[in-house]
Amino acid sequence: MDFNKELERRKTFGIVSHPDAGKTTLTEKLLLFGGAIQTAGAVKSNKIKKTATSDFMEIEKQRGISVATSVMAFEYRDLKINILDTPGHQDFAEDTYRTLTAVDSVIVVIDVAKGVEKQTEKLVKVCRMRDTPIIVFINKMDRSGKDAVDLLDEVEEKLGLNVRPLSWPISMGPTFKGVYNMYEKKLNLFNAHGKQEEEETIVFEDLDHPDLEKYIGDFADELREEVEMIEGVYPEFSRQDYLDSKISPVFFGSAINNFGVKELLDCFVEIAPSPLPRETDQRIIDPTESKFSGFIFKIHANIDPRHRDRIAFLRVCSGLFERNTNYWHIRQNKKMKFSNPTSFMAEKKSILDYAFPGDIVGLYDSGNFVIGDALSEGEKLHFKGIPSFSPEQFRFVNNKNPMKAKQFNKGLQQLMDEGVAQLFIKDLNNRRIIGTVGALQFEVIQYRLEHEYGAICTYEPVSLFKACWVTSEDQVALQEFRKKRQPDMAVDSRGKLVFLASSQYILDMVQEQYPKVQFHTKSEY
Ligand code: G4P
Repeated sequence: MDFNKELERRKTFGIVSHPDAGKTTLTEKLLLFGGAIQTAGAVKSNKIKKTATSDFMEIEKQRGISVATSVMAFEYRDLKINILDTPGHQDFAEDTYRTLTAVDSVIVVIDVAKGVEKQTEKLVKVCRMRDTPIIVFINKMDRSGKDAVDLLDEVEEKLGLNVRPLSWPISMGPTFKGVYNMYEKKLNLFNAHGKQEEEETIVFEDLDHPDLEKYIGDFADELREEVEMIEGVYPEFSRQDYLDSKISPVFFGSAINNFGVKELLDCFVEIAPSPLPRETDQRIIDPTESKFSGFIFKIHANIDPRHRDRIAFLRVCSGLFERNTNYWHIRQNKKMKFSNPTSFMAEKKSILDYAFPGDIVGLYDSGNFVIGDALSEGEKLHFKGIPSFSPEQFRFVNNKNPMKAKQFNKGLQQLMDEGVAQLFIKDLNNRRIIGTVGALQFEVIQYRLEHEYGAICTYEPVSLFKACWVTSEDQVALQEFRKKRQPDMAVDSRGKLVFLASSQYILDMVQEQYPKVQFHTKSEY
């Protein structure tokens, strides 16, 4: 086993998109190419359907599916590719932000008709904060949509990316002829009749050749002009610029028709980064280091309420992870070993003996982990960039049955460890406030507390605008602020001090009044 070779052949990435742009379809086609699944339709949609907002069983079912599709690994051209699933539903955005800390690159899927949508904007912003290399796939070219040049302008403007098309569409919708792949100088013809498995590909070095008319008829001249324009307007593609996240290559295709997907994958495997270094508070961890380190970016409860154990998802950052070997759980300051660490290959789970940097390992957990926890061979490390954002919705949470206080507290704590929502305890009266990104989580918490922990909770409205983590170099000033604003102060589940602002006005006011105090809308776990 050659460690460096194993490291080099890993590509760990996520696909991000607004719901319905075609993420699931694209994932499935990629898995088909990798031979990880044999038939279309094998990857169940992992999205929470719009109709499911108050359908608890549906949420549970979807949760079950999303465990199975959390990580999908497959082999392609002697590479090991790990796709990390990122829920598109905006109520689960936090889950997606955290998953993005565990990838080395992303593919952004955009619907040609809808253009850049809100959720995509938010997610790409998070990727850009971390300089994650991005490839863009414009999907649904078999449908009429926005003009390609306009769409690229929109991508540049709304997502703040410098784009470089590597393929170019020849018409779209009912007259869609295919794409010209500028990266490989090939003409890929779209067969409008039926869902082809493999597209017809013709090597076509010189677009001026009259044969072009033979293949795409009247669209030939238009293509020549457009390709000339692109070569003139957009910068030259360089892999290094992509890796430095200065440029994003763009492909066009139709995932459902399996069109343009192979080009995307072939380019991806050539240019996408192998496991990248990770930043910690202490130092930068290089994947080639011999000592193992990794962090937990996601925790998933078992959907079977009779088995309370959970799966913690570990991203291996350096060294070799081995089964039945003692590692140091840094936060809890204790040694742990794992007898059945799990790997994921599409729908199949299996026990693994080793894992390399870039790999995702599922660890069965009975409550030892919280998101952001790190494991190492003894070095104290805290991985950066696993943020928690200020929630947007808040409610007081109460335990309805005092006899079940223990179950209620434990359930609430475990759900917070999983990152379902955030909990704030008020300084004034110890009342608990739950903060979430979307309304759906309140229902999920209520349902799961009852069904998994046997505790019943009730909610009460509370009018809050934002929760801001507060810090100061000057501890006296911070304590003074805490005392003065006591009714608005709380601590989060890590004991960090939080100011609960009831409006933007109040927030602006206190910021002005207390210049020595810093207000953050984002905390790192
Ligand atoms: P998501 O994971 O990003 O939410 O999207 P998903 O792949 O589920 O795709 C959303 C819808 O778009 C699906 O249709 C899917 O079939 C369709 N779709 C995906 N790629 C293409 C494409 O290239 N062209 C066209 N025309 N449609 C595409 P649906 O009707 O919502 O679901 P289903 O009943 O087909 O599963």
